Amino acid sequence: MDTRERIKKGFSKLPKEEKLKLIANYFENPGEVVRLLKSYWHADAKKQQLFDEFSENTITNFFIPYGISPNVNINGKNYIVPMVIEESSVVAAASAAAKFWGERGGFHAEVVDVRKVGQVHFGWSGDKEQLFALFPEIEQRLLADTDGMTEKMRKRGGGILGMRLIDYTAQIPDYYQIRVEFDTGDAMGANFINSVLEQFGHSLQDFFAEQSDLPKEQRKVEIIMTILSNNTPDCRVRVWVECPVEQLDGIDENLSGAEYAKKFKKAVDIAHIDVDRATTHNKGIYNGIDAVVIATGNDFRAVEAAGHTFASRNGRYESLSSVTIEDGVFHFELEVPMALGTVGGLTSLHPLAKKTLELLGNPTAPELMTIAATMGLANNFSAVRSLTTKGIQAGHMKMHLNNILNQLNATEEQKRQAHEYFKDKTVSFAAVEKFLEGLRK
Ligand code: MEV
Repeated sequence: MDTRERIKKGFSKLPKEEKLKLIANYFENPGEVVRLLKSYWHADAKKQQLFDEFSENTITNFFIPYGISPNVNINGKNYIVPMVIEESSVVAAASAAAKFWGERGGFHAEVVDVRKVGQVHFGWSGDKEQLFALFPEIEQRLLADTDGMTEKMRKRGGGILGMRLIDYTAQIPDYYQIRVEFDTGDAMGANFINSVLEQFGHSLQDFFAEQSDLPKEQRKVEIIMTILSNNTPDCRVRVWVECPVEQLDGIDENLSGAEYAKKFKKAVDIAHIDVDRATTHNKGIYNGIDAVVIATGNDFRAVEAAGHTFASRNGRYESLSSVTIEDGVFHFELEVPMALGTVGGLTSLHPLAKKTLELLGNPTAPELMTIAATMGLANNFSAVRSLTTKGIQAGHMKMHLNNILNQLNATEEQKRQAHEYFKDKTVSFAAVEKFLEGLRK
């Protein structure tokens, strides 16, 4: 494709309508593009402005379906779970698993821990031993200087849990890190953590500037950067389902429940030894997790990044879920890090995120961790069940049928007939095209 003509300086300063018109000129039919993109603006200008201001250079909205997975039993509590996802069959897969496990004791979940991490990366040229000797004093100074900032969080039971100095000078000359642990309560806490860390950076500089008995060059620290870590292995949730193997009878018409449990376990074990399969397997888990994370206005990139790092904790990228079969009991489990918030950020700003939380019963952040992880395990169960029985395409393409019909501009009546016709046939783009041709003749 040809390179696009550069947009002149000042694009971000243009009014939204001008931005849209300018961008429309890059299309074959600018007028049509303006109309199309504008048709996705909210009719209520005030509501639209809210969305515009979530980000920058907004010219329209990009819609993704908001669906519901009804009746998800977690720790004996029934949840109606909103899922925001564009991929057909994810909500259906989650709902099918929720129904299946709802009849077998439901999902069980526990939050392992909620600690999050932030880092002050800095350079200092003095004596290492001396730095470690000074560290208790530095720590007191950092805590004192952020006392006001952390007061509210401490009142809610959170705040700074501890910090330690790490010596990385063997890898990078003069480079040290202060690794800080936080409990941010029901907030995802990114802004809180980053603000505290930035103050730590300033305080560290002040502290050294005041050390008059140190040589002049050692009274300076270089603050390289201060930022939270999205690696949150200690902000982690465990969710599992289990049942006697006989309760898996009937999943595969040719296998007993006991035999099927072994086959299912093999499929999950493969994702523990083979990175290609592990990646797809975990992607299926994030189909469910991301959908809830997005529906609640949380940061799915952060959640995924932490998950993939956690999946590599044994030195190789592996499945996040695992199966055991002991004493005739099938146990399927998922353990994942998950930094979520139920207050602050987009969770309070996005009108639909707010409604999602309300529908979920206004959960605490730890409770929301259990819900999102459950949907991950639910999707993982349905995916592996399909893969190990009838294959993924049968269900997938059935759900995709509507997308194909829409792409081929089928009428409502044609859609109805197509759904009837493909009930017992394999769906493919070519097959649907041929079927519609037949109808249209
Ligand atoms: C598709 O979005 C997800 C799956 O590929 C997951 C898996 O293979 O386990 C079906």
